[in-house]
Amino acid sequence: MTSTTNDTTGSAIDPTTTTAWEALEAHYLEQTTSLREWFEQDPQRAERFSRTAADLHVDLSKNLITAETMELLLDLAREVDLEGRRAAMFAGEHINTTEDRAVLHTALRRPEGAEPALEVDGQDVDADVHATLRRVYDFADKVRSGEWTGVTGKRIETVVNIGIGGSDLGPAMIYEALKPLAQEGLEARFISNIDPTDAYATTADLDPETTLVIVASKTFTTLETITNARLVREWLLGGLRDRGLDQDLEAEAVRRHFVAVSTALDKVEEFGIDPENAFGFWNWVGGRYSVDSAIGTVLATVLGPDAFEELLAGFHAMDEHFRTAPLEDNVPVLMGMLNVWNVNFQGAETHAVLPYSQYLHRFPAYLQQLTMESNGKSVRWDGSLVSYDTGEVFWGEPGTNGQHAFFQLLHQGTRLIPADFIAFATPNHPLTDGEQDVHELFLANFFAQTKALAFGKTAEEVRAEGTEGALVAAREFSGDRPTTSIMAPKLTPSVLGQLIALYEHITFVQGVVWGINSFDQWGVELGKQLAKGLAPAVAGDEQAIAAEDSSTAALIRYYREHRG
Ligand code: F6P
Repeated sequence: MTSTTNDTTGSAIDPTTTTAWEALEAHYLEQTTSLREWFEQDPQRAERFSRTAADLHVDLSKNLITAETMELLLDLAREVDLEGRRAAMFAGEHINTTEDRAVLHTALRRPEGAEPALEVDGQDVDADVHATLRRVYDFADKVRSGEWTGVTGKRIETVVNIGIGGSDLGPAMIYEALKPLAQEGLEARFISNIDPTDAYATTADLDPETTLVIVASKTFTTLETITNARLVREWLLGGLRDRGLDQDLEAEAVRRHFVAVSTALDKVEEFGIDPENAFGFWNWVGGRYSVDSAIGTVLATVLGPDAFEELLAGFHAMDEHFRTAPLEDNVPVLMGMLNVWNVNFQGAETHAVLPYSQYLHRFPAYLQQLTMESNGKSVRWDGSLVSYDTGEVFWGEPGTNGQHAFFQLLHQGTRLIPADFIAFATPNHPLTDGEQDVHELFLANFFAQTKALAFGKTAEEVRAEGTEGALVAAREFSGDRPTTSIMAPKLTPSVLGQLIALYEHITFVQGVVWGINSFDQWGVELGKQLAKGLAPAVAGDEQAIAAEDSSTAALIRYYREHRG
C-alpha cells in the first residue's frame, strides 16, 4: 500500500444535490412515525436493526427509522462516495486538505507485520509506529519495575500528564475508565487548564521526589501546556531544593522527572527536556485522534504496556470492521448515517451519550472534542459554504446520574434528542444489597429508560392508573424519542478501544456526507490569537485598554479593580 497522492482537490459534493437527499426529504414527509406500531407490526424489528461490530452489540431498532430509511441513507452514503473517501483515509491520501496532510490514526493500531505494509509520503509508517511503541513500553517497564527512579533514588509513585485537548482528554478518560488496572503504588494525574488552580491543586499533596511529569503536546507551543510545564518544573525543583538538592543536580532532576511527547522534538529540547526522554508522533495524527500514539505514554506507564496493547487491538478490530464490513452491516456507517438522518431530516441539534458505567464518566467529554472539533464547520473542504446543518452538540453524563438531572427534558421536552446508551453485561465490581444484585438494578434502569423514551405512555394509560384532569397531560409521555443501545460483555481495554474507534469512524462518516474536512480545527485559532494580543491590556496598559471595544475594556477594568 503506497500513497503520495493528493487527489482530494476539486470540488466537494453538495449532499443536498444528490438523488438520495431528495428521496430522504420526501420519505421524511411521508413517514408516520410510531415506534409502538413499528414494533407491534414487526416482531423481528430488534433483530432486523441490530448489528455486531467486534465485541459490541448495537441495537438501532429504537430509532425513528424503517428499512426504507436505512436503504435511502445508504444510497446517500454511496452517492457521496463514502467508500472512496474511506479507502483514501486508510491509504494515507491527503484528505486533510487545508493542512495538506494524510489522516492516519488507524495506522497507529495496525499490528506489527500487517500486510500489505503501509508506506506514505516516503515514510515506512508501520516501522516508525512500532519503533516508537517499543521505546514507550521500554520506558514504561522501567518506571513500573522501579529501575527508573527520581533524582534522589526514590521509586516513581505518581505520573502527572500535562496536556490539553487531545493531549489530555483521551489519556484522562481512558485512565478513569480502566483505573482498576493501574499498578499498585502508581497513579496518574492530569493537569490541563491554564487556571493556575489546576497545577496548584493537582500537585499540592504530591512528593516531588516520587513524581514523574509527562509534558504532552503535539505542537509543543500550546500556551496552557507550556505554562503548566514551567509551573510544575518550578514546583518540582523548588520542592527538591527544600530537601537539600544541590543546584548542580537540577539539570539531572529535570532529566529524571520530565519526559515529553510531541511531534516537535526540537521544541522539546529547547524546553530543556532530554531528547532521549521524548517520544514522537507524526503530523498525520490529529490531536483528538492521538490517544493511541505516544500521547498514551501515561497509560502505558500506569496501566501497563499489556493493557495499552489490548487497547490498540480493540481500536484495530473496529478499524477492520469499518474498512471491510458491507455498508448495511457496518456499524460506524449505520450510526453515522443515522446521525445525518437525525440532524438534517429530523432536526436534531444535539446528541446525548449516556454511558451506564461510572468508569466511563469522562467519555462524553472526550467525545465532545472528537466530534465537535471535527465536524463543527460551516464550509466544505473546497471552501464552499454549506447550506445545511453540520456537527451536532454532543453531551452526556453517566447513568443513572443523568436520570435525576436532565432526563426530564429527554422524555417530555420539545426537542428531539437522539441518545446513545452504553452498558456492559459484567460489572467491574459485583456488589449485592442484601439479595439484590446492584448491577442488575443498574441495568434495569438502562433498559427502562430506552423503553420509556421509545414507547412513552398514552393519555389512556395515564387515566387507567386513576389520574384525571390537567394532570393527565403532565403525566403523558409521547414516546418516539430515538435511542441506540450499545452493549458489550465487559469494559476491558479492548472494548474501550473499540468504542473510541467506533465514534472516530461515525464522525468521519458524517464529515464525508457533509463534505467537510473533519481533520482541521481553524475555529480555535482566533481566540488564541486574541488572548495573546490582550496581554498588555489585562496587565493594565491604559492605552491598550482604551483601544478595546467598550465591553472588553469594561470587563478588563472590572478585573483590575476587583483583583484581590
Ligand atoms: O486548540 C485546539 C488544539 O489544537 C487541539 O486540536 C489539540 O488537541 C489541543 O489544542 C492541544 O494541542 P497540542 O497537543 O499541540 O498541545
